[in-house]
Amino acid sequence: MENMEFSLKKIFMERAIQLARNGLGTTSPNPMVGCVIEKNGVVISEGWHYKFGMNHAEVEAINKIKDNNSFVNSTLYVTLEPCIHFGKTSPCVDLIIKKKIPIVVIGIRDPYQKVNGLGIKKLINNGIKVVENFLEDQCLVLNKRFFTFHKKNRPYIILKWAQSNDGFIYSSNRKNKWISGENARQLNHKWRSEEDSILVGKKTVLNDNPKLNVRKWDGKNPVRIFIDKKLNIPDSYFVLDGTQKTIIFTEKNKKNKKNIEYICLSFKKELIKNILNQLYRRNIQSLIVEGGKNTLENFIKENMWDECRVFVCNTTLKCGIESPIIKGKMLKSVNIGKDILFYFSR
Ligand SMILES: NC(=O)c1ccc[n+]([C@@H]2O[C@H](COP(=O)([O-])OP(=O)(O)OC[C@H]3O[C@@H](n4cnc5c(N)ncnc54)[C@H](OP(=O)(O)O)[C@@H]3O)[C@@H](O)[C@H]2O)c1
Repeated sequence: MENMEFSLKKIFMERAIQLARNGLGTTSPNPMVGCVIEKNGVVISEGWHYKFGMNHAEVEAINKIKDNNSFVNSTLYVTLEPCIHFGKTSPCVDLIIKKKIPIVVIGIRDPYQKVNGLGIKKLINNGIKVVENFLEDQCLVLNKRFFTFHKKNRPYIILKWAQSNDGFIYSSNRKNKWISGENARQLNHKWRSEEDSILVGKKTVLNDNPKLNVRKWDGKNPVRIFIDKKLNIPDSYFVLDGTQKTIIFTEKNKKNKKNIEYICLSFKKELIKNILNQLYRRNIQSLIVEGGKNTLENFIKENMWDECRVFVCNTTLKCGIESPIIKGKMLKSVNIGKDILFYFSR
């Protein structure tokens, strides 16, 4: 009987997690949250946090139910502790209490200081039965960016590169600058749309003149970031065209322009940590680092990464810049067109 009850709860919470994922790339700096309301084993409503500034998942699900009697004997499943504070919207906890929902199942506590356990406390103090930490690990992975940001005071960091099947990321001999195939490149644009920011090194900007935007997928552009100690990148380069919010880390003082912010830092020590600290202060919750070798290796050396995605491509270069070496836990590999994508975690 107990197992049966657990299995049912699991189905509803997994559905809430699935709904939450719809907010990938649109909710930051808020977390992705999903909600399911169940009664007598049947889902009577569901919702998710669609976009920053819009309704929270609980409000979406609750407001779809017009008859308050429907809440009698119902259970609300939510992937993250309901909020108790006034932000862009009013507190979800108050709405749950007002609607007299008797049971609330919560995936994981909100690490955000203004909530952290207080939402749960208020629900309990108002006679609501709370089940905590249900599928906690899955709910943690769902919001890995949000939790890393609030617990480690830095963005969640993804390293990404494409290497030839003989281990090079660049060769000046090659006419076609792309190492990876079309499918891998499209997937990369999807990833860009999911993160708050993207960073590359100066030589990558000079050699490739990248746009660092989202073109092969629908979605928002990340804030583009590059490291340019002496400000050597000419204004004619795409990264300085002002079409997208851009941050440049440099040792020089330079006045900001429309959409372009120059941040002056000392390059003498802990450059990566200082960069991440600046991003944290700007509420940037995730960062994808797309190369080149020198830049990626600096993140690896300072142990500042959470996830690494490497395309090993159907291309042979024979010489050039060797790929970085990553010593992480290999999670899985997937075929993407003719390339193979390897996922690592730290
Ligand atoms: N296959 C791929 O996935 C891929 C991806 C991206 C790039 N690439 C290729 O990689 C090549 C460039 O790689 P790269 O290793 O030569 O250069 P890079 O990493 O793009 O840029 C290195 C430069 O960035 C600055 N920099 C980065 N991190 C720094 C740090 N922690 N401290 C100080 N300065 C830092 C330095 O500029 P200063 O000289 O001003 O000090 C350094 O020389 C390009 O040709 C590009 O085509 C390949």
